[in-house]
Amino acid sequence: MPFAALKTNLSQLKQDGLLRTRRIVMGAQTRKLKVDSHELLSFASNDYLGLANDPRLINATQEALGAYGVGAGASPMVCGHGVMHELAEQSLAKFVEKPRALLFSNGYLANIGVITALANRETAIFADKLNHASLNDAAVLSRAKFQRYPHANMRFLERLLTQSNAKRKLVISDAVFSMDGDIAPIKALLDLCDRYDAWLVLDDAHGFGVLGASGQGAMSFAQVSSPRIIYMATLGKAAGVYGAFVAAEIDVIDFLLQHARSYIYTTATPQCLASAIHASVELICTEQWRRTHIIALTSALRMKLKLERWQISMCAAAIQPIIIGDNKEVVAVSQALFDQGIWAPAIRSPTVEKNTARLRLSLSASHRLEDVDRLAAALNELERLAKRHGGK
Ligand SMILES: Cc1ncc(COP(=O)(O)O)c(C=O)c1O
Repeated sequence: MPFAALKTNLSQLKQDGLLRTRRIVMGAQTRKLKVDSHELLSFASNDYLGLANDPRLINATQEALGAYGVGAGASPMVCGHGVMHELAEQSLAKFVEKPRALLFSNGYLANIGVITALANRETAIFADKLNHASLNDAAVLSRAKFQRYPHANMRFLERLLTQSNAKRKLVISDAVFSMDGDIAPIKALLDLCDRYDAWLVLDDAHGFGVLGASGQGAMSFAQVSSPRIIYMATLGKAAGVYGAFVAAEIDVIDFLLQHARSYIYTTATPQCLASAIHASVELICTEQWRRTHIIALTSALRMKLKLERWQISMCAAAIQPIIIGDNKEVVAVSQALFDQGIWAPAIRSPTVEKNTARLRLSLSASHRLEDVDRLAAALNELERLAKRHGGK
C-alpha cells in the first residue's frame, strides 16, 4: 500500500516533535485571536503595523468590490490587468523610489518569477544560508549553479564571486531574515555586486512597512539605491493585505513581463485587493506612530525579559526570536504559553537549523505595553521552571 510510507513519515515527525499543525482562527486578525473557546493574545502574526483589520482598508476593498467584482478573470497578460492594479503598482514604485513595480499574487510566486526569469543554466546564484524557502526553491527551479554562503559572511561571498566565471551572477538575500529578525549587510552586498557585476535580489518581506523613515523598507534603512537592486516585498505582512511586488528599473520589469512565468501563467490578483494595497501604502507612509510604537514595544520586551537559559537575539525589526534550542522544549514552552492564553509559535528544524528551535515572537503596532509585560512575565516564569527541571 503506498499509504504506508506516508503514515510512517507522519508518525516519525510526530515522534520527533516536528509535526506541523493548524489552528482554526475565528474572526479577523487582531492582537487577540479566538481559537475554539480560547482567547489568545497573539505574537504569531506578521501583521506588524496592525493594518490587517483596519476599517480604511476594509472600506477600500469593499468599494472596489462594488466597482470591479471579485475575480480578475484572467492573467494580467490577457485581460486581467485593471485600473486598480495599475494604481497600486504606481504607488508602490513611487514609495520605494524605483522606476517601476509589478504586482505578483504573493511573495513565494514573486521570488519564483524573478529568479527563474533572470537565471538559467549559465547563471551563478549566491545565496545567504538563512534565506527564505521561496528563494531557495526559486534558485533550484532556475537550474542555475546554486551556491550558499554562511549567514551574512561577506568574505565567503566574495571568495565565491571571485571564483565564478558565470556569464550572469545573482546575489539573493532576505533583507530582514524571517526567522532571526536580523538585517542583511545590504551596503556590503551591493558593494560586492558592483565589484563583481552581479544583480542583487533583495527580499524585504519583513522590512517593508517597518524599516526606513516612512516604512519604505530595507533600501531606505540602509540608504542604498542602485539599478542593480531588484527589490521584492510582500503585501500580506506589514501592509496588512495580500500579494507582493517587485520594484526595479523599467527594463527589468519589461523583461519580467515577458519571462516571469509565475506572473504570466496565473490569474491576476482581485482588483479589490489591489485597491486595499493602494490604500495601505498611504497608511504605511503617513502613520509613523505605528513604527515608533513597535520600537517602544521592542525595548520594553528586552527590559522585562530576564532570561539566562534561553537567548533573545538583537533585532531592529518587529521579529524577536527567543532561541530555546531543543525541538521538544520549544513545543512545550509554546504549549504552556498557549494554556495561559498567549500564542507564541514554535519554529523548529527544518525551518531553522537543528538545535536552534525558537519561539518566533512578532510585535505589532496593535499590541499594548501591558501585552508585552504579560508575555515577558510568562516567559520569565517558564524559564525559571525549565531551569529547575533541566538542572541548568
Ligand atoms: C522572507 C520571505 N520571503 C517570501 C515570503 C513569501 O511571501 P508570501 O507569504 O507573500 O507568499 C515570506 C513569507 O511568507 C518570507 O518570510
